[in-house]
Amino acid sequence: MRKLKIEIKKLSKNFEKRFVLKDLDLNIYESESLSIIGESGSGKSVLARCITGLTEFEKGKILTDDSKDVMRMSSKSLNEHISKFGILFQNSALLDSLSVEENLKFTDKNINLSEILNEINLTKKILKKFPSEISVGDQKRVGLARAILKEPEILILDEPTTGLDPLISNQINILIKNIVEKKKITAVTITHDMTSVNEYGEKVAFLRSGKIEWYGDAKKIYDTKNKNLKNFIDGAL
Ligand SMILES: Nc1ncnc2c1ncn2[C@@H]1O[C@H](COP(=O)(O)OP(=O)(O)OP(=O)(O)O)[C@@H](O)[C@H]1O
Ligand SMILES: [Mg+2]
Repeated sequence: MRKLKIEIKKLSKNFEKRFVLKDLDLNIYESESLSIIGESGSGKSVLARCITGLTEFEKGKILTDDSKDVMRMSSKSLNEHISKFGILFQNSALLDSLSVEENLKFTDKNINLSEILNEINLTKKILKKFPSEISVGDQKRVGLARAILKEPEILILDEPTTGLDPLISNQINILIKNIVEKKKITAVTITHDMTSVNEYGEKVAFLRSGKIEWYGDAKKIYDTKNKNLKNFIDGAL
């Protein structure tokens, strides 16, 4: 039996009266790897921020596995909720003025970095460098390392391969696949990259016009009769 980890019910989010998400429903199941796909500007990053509790929303509910509603949590519960997530933000979001080591140790000084570096295929040499001195691919690796450092219950990866060349994208995809499969973590990946979906997505949610327009098995996505999804896949390939 799949166990619900996050249940999103009729979620609406506006910016200055313009809706981005409208009555959106989506279930995220424990230990499952979900890919959220959709055109640029469709609201994928906004959705991710709502799920993590970092952004407020006007209507609807986001329920956790203990049936708490993210919008009605006490600040203590909300902090606990936020701490369940490991997040790789869209631009890696490393702090420019801190070295890689300081970026990784930012929230916990006592963390042992050897194991984590190994996991993301980087050597200790990178620790003393600053984000601007390393490639975008390595910035993504460091962002990924930071996201998994504290063994989060849920991993959110916002465009982990955007801006990378196909070779590096592939390496990052394989890395994520290994992490997701080994740790059996609940993973939500936001992406345009169909290679990411094919590599480690189990379920796919296609976001369009504020709603999840298609949801199903990643393997079945190419058989879809949904025109918008077809067009998206054709454009994304
Ligand atoms: N803080 C904000 N204030 C106003 N509008 C915002 C804000 N954040 C996002 N938006 C708008 O919400 C819409 C959805 O943005 P979002 O970043 O979620 O898109 P996305 O699907 O992640 O796009 P991309 O694939 O380019 O990352 C966009 O039209 C964006 O301009
Ligand atoms: Mg985005």
